[in-house]
Amino acid sequence: MSFYKRHLFVCTNERKDGSQCCAQHDAEAVRLHAKKRLKALGLSGPGKMRVNKSGCLDRCSEGPVAVVYPEAVWYTYDDAEDMDEIIDEHLLNGRIVERLRLPDEPE
Ligand code: FES
Repeated sequence: MSFYKRHLFVCTNERKDGSQCCAQHDAEAVRLHAKKRLKALGLSGPGKMRVNKSGCLDRCSEGPVAVVYPEAVWYTYDDAEDMDEIIDEHLLNGRIVERLRLPDEPE
């Protein structure tokens, strides 16, 4: 068993040169929303779920991006509602949200 049942990494990187980055899509606000939601549901902590911010995951043009381990499923999202769907379906129930999923392999 891993320390966390599922671990969600949300890229919040900002590119100061103005090029495309996850911060342009309110990624930090969405990450905070996810963190608060899991805590409110009592699902945050060792043996349960964890949300972490990450630096650039090098998929900027597909962003904003997030990735869920241990399944290593990559997602994009438009807003907090999309993140709620990722939490409700994938983190809580292990069902991949295909409509928000990014390809596993580099194109
Ligand atoms: S800025 Fe988020 S993947 Fe690069």
